[in-house]
Order: sequence, then C-alpha cells, then structure tokens
Amino acid sequence: MKGLTGKTAVITGAGSGLGCGMAQRMAEEGVRVAVVDINLAGAEETVREITEAGGEARAFELDITDYSAAVSCIESVEAGLGSVDILVNNAGWDAAMPFLDTDPDLWKKIIDINLYGPLNLQHILVPKMLEHDGGKIINIASDAGRVGSSGEAVYSACKGGVIAFSKTLARELGRKGIIVNTVCPGPSDTPLFADFAGEGEAGKKLRASLERSIPLRRLGTADDIAGIVTFLASSEADFIIGQTISVSGGLTMHG
Ligand SMILES: NC(=O)c1ccc[n+]([C@@H]2O[C@H](COP(=O)([O-])OP(=O)(O)OC[C@H]3O[C@@H](n4cnc5c(N)ncnc54)[C@H](O)[C@@H]3O)[C@@H](O)[C@H]2O)c1
Repeated sequence: MKGLTGKTAVITGAGSGLGCGMAQRMAEEGVRVAVVDINLAGAEETVREITEAGGEARAFELDITDYSAAVSCIESVEAGLGSVDILVNNAGWDAAMPFLDTDPDLWKKIIDINLYGPLNLQHILVPKMLEHDGGKIINIASDAGRVGSSGEAVYSACKGGVIAFSKTLARELGRKGIIVNTVCPGPSDTPLFADFAGEGEAGKKLRASLERSIPLRRLGTADDIAGIVTFLASSEADFIIGQTISVSGGLTMHG
C-alpha cells in the first residue's frame, strides 16, 4: 500500500488479538510500530514476531487510562521511533453481564479503558501531529456501538461514544490534516471474545449461533481486521474521513 514505508505508528493493545495482527500487517508495509500494551509480555511477544519477520517494532508498557503515563510513553516512542504519524486506538476490555447486574465500579473501569483511553491518546498525539504533516487515526470501536450487544451495555455506550467522537474530531481537524476513521469489528476470535462467550457448552453454543447468523458463516480473525486498518493508515485512503466501517462478515450491514 502507498505511503506507509518509514512511517511510525502507535497501536494500543497490540500485545494480543486484533491489535497484534494490525501491528504485524503495518510492519510488513514498512511501518515502525510502537506496540503499546498494559501487558508488557504480550507486547514483547508481538515485537519478537515482527522482528523475526524482518519488521521494526518496539514494546512499550502503558495503562491507557493514565494520562500522565501516556504522555511519558509517547515521549519514549518519539525518542525510540521518531514522531508519530499513525495512531490506532485498539486496546479495549469488557466483562459481559446484564446491565442490572453491573455496578458503578465496573462502569468506571469499562469507561476508563474504552472511552478515556482513546481520548487520552488523541489529546496527547493530535497536537504533535498538527506540528508535523498531520496524521491518520483509526479508532477501533465495535458493532456493539452501532447495533447494541446484550450483556455489553456500558461497553456499547463507550463504543458508540468513540464512533461519535471520531466523526467530530474528523470535522474539527480534517482540513488541518488529521484524518480520523472508525473500524467496528464484529465477533472475532480473540481472547476478549473467549471471555465474552464464556467457557464450556454455553460458550460453544453462543459461538455456533453467531456463526449461523453471520452471512460468511465464521467469526472474524485478526487478519480480517488488519487489512482495513492498514489501508486507512495508508495514502490510498487520503480522501476517506469520518467513516465508520464494520468488518463483521455481514452480521451487520449499514447503508
Ligand atoms: N474480539 C471481538 O469480538 C471484538 C469485537 C468488536 C470489537 N472489538 C474491539 O477490538 C479491540 C481489540 O480487541 P481484541 O478482541 O483483540 O481483545 P484482546 O483482549 O485480545 O486484546 C486487547 C488488548 O488490549 C490490552 N489492554 C486492555 N486494557 C488496557 C489498558 N488499560 N491499557 C493498555 N492496554 C490495554 C490488553 O492487554 C490486550 O493486549 C478492542 O477495542 C475491542 O473492544 C473486539
């Protein structure tokens, strides 16, 4: 893809699942990748896989809910890999249960990770991108934020918030070169989905019923999401802004 070689990307939550796939795909295109995760061991494993394949990446430990830690982390990324051209807000978390079984402590944790985390990174990085040639931001929301998802009420609220926030930032700063888009994965085979589906027979049944409902008859994979994220970061997508793109095997279809 055009316009990626030599760029620097920050990808949060790249120590596992979908983010790991995005980091690998970007590195294949010659992007220097900052693999940012609260789980340093996971981030280091992603970096090992990228460097073994001939790419360039470094691991950075960060809890994205901590604004001042994020400031220091971005300073370390800039010192190690240069100024940041691409930000992928991918880190996310949920504990699935009916809304009436949840409590404010759990809401706070879900909102901190899924909404404040992306806000923190964008508030820190966008001014730096404006000082250079602008930048590409891809926010990873969820189809839960478009159509809802039983057992994920607060998470869905955050993801819907990320979608609306992305459109607003795109409107405010597009003309200054900040290009923001949102990708909404559908159910995808990662550790997060395994936690959501649960263990044993109930988990197997949920997976089978989702697979029956998805027109392409399978869950998503990290590879399914990595291509669109890398495309949106590339110059091939320079005229695409403020869009919300579902990658769900057709489970949801938006006009
Ligand atoms: N897997 C799915 O079915 C699915 C569906 C829709 C949306 N998504 C979204 O895709 C993204 C990636 O999910 P995944 O399925 O790969 O999950 P995952 O659990 O495999 O990976 C998430 C990563 O985020 C990291 N993380 C969590 N909290 C963090 C924090 N506070 N600071 C920094 N890193 C943190 C975790 O350590 C982990 O490495 C998330 O935003 C998720 O909401 C996933």
